[in-house]
Amino acid sequence: MASITEPVLPQASEMLLFAQDVVMAFGGIRALDHVSFWVPPGGAVGLLGQNGSGKTTLLNVITGQLLPQTGSVYFDGREMLGSKPDVYAKVGISRVFQSVQVFPRMTVFENLMVAQLGSGNSDTSADFTHSVLKRVDLEDYADVMTRDLSYGHQRLLEIAMALAARAKLILFDEPTAGLGNDLAGRVIACLRELNASGTAIIVIEHETNVVFQTCDVVWVLNEGQVIARGTPDEIRNDRQVLELYLGKPKT
Ligand SMILES: Nc1ncnc2c1ncn2[C@@H]1O[C@H](COP(=O)(O)OP(=O)(O)O)[C@@H](O)[C@H]1O
Ligand SMILES: [Mg+2]
Repeated sequence: MASITEPVLPQASEMLLFAQDVVMAFGGIRALDHVSFWVPPGGAVGLLGQNGSGKTTLLNVITGQLLPQTGSVYFDGREMLGSKPDVYAKVGISRVFQSVQVFPRMTVFENLMVAQLGSGNSDTSADFTHSVLKRVDLEDYADVMTRDLSYGHQRLLEIAMALAARAKLILFDEPTAGLGNDLAGRVIACLRELNASGTAIIVIEHETNVVFQTCDVVWVLNEGQVIARGTPDEIRNDRQVLELYLGKPKT
């Protein structure tokens, strides 16, 4: 059964990421209301929920953009809350889309070098950079000025930057939003390949199928609380989820 009545917490030390009992309030609104959330090493975790349910806020807490009123966030067993931004890159947390910095007046190749150096990845060889470009199908764009890339290619570059940084966990906030079928398919393929090669991912999507296709565990947030957690099949068939989220008529 996917709906959660009595959450049983796993051992924090067994998880790559473990957020415990997080409360993040804005004025009177609790965007996160005692949320505990975890990602095992190499896991692929999806996050669903209606607009305003707290998904982006949870990512912001995980990546240190927001400091919650209560709770803890452990990464690789280390408490992250209060750490400086550069610490997040160094421990191997990377975020793609919305907050990743791409330098428009640098080439694709140069952007990757920046990502490699910023993360403390010691392999700064051109061979490594080219191998990363190959993995996202951008080899032909190495010398292109980033500002001249299409929107979709820019997204692939952002995935490449996370790869170049050798991130252990990459967070994706609506990775296929605004993309046509072709590029959305490529992004989905990249996410799966990335995860298959051992990188843990968190995927937020409005488009539930993207999460169902890329993740092995899916969490559902509603009004700042976790209401369900399960495999894609369990979540697809969960009555409470259907009523509260998936089954709601589109407006
Ligand atoms: N910086 C902020 N200031 C005030 N309220 C915020 C802020 N960020 C988010 N919220 C509120 O927190 C709730 C959750 O928002 P958000 O995490 O963006 O939801 P989601 O990503 O699921 O759509 C919403 O009610 C939103 O209005
Ligand atoms: Mg959001």
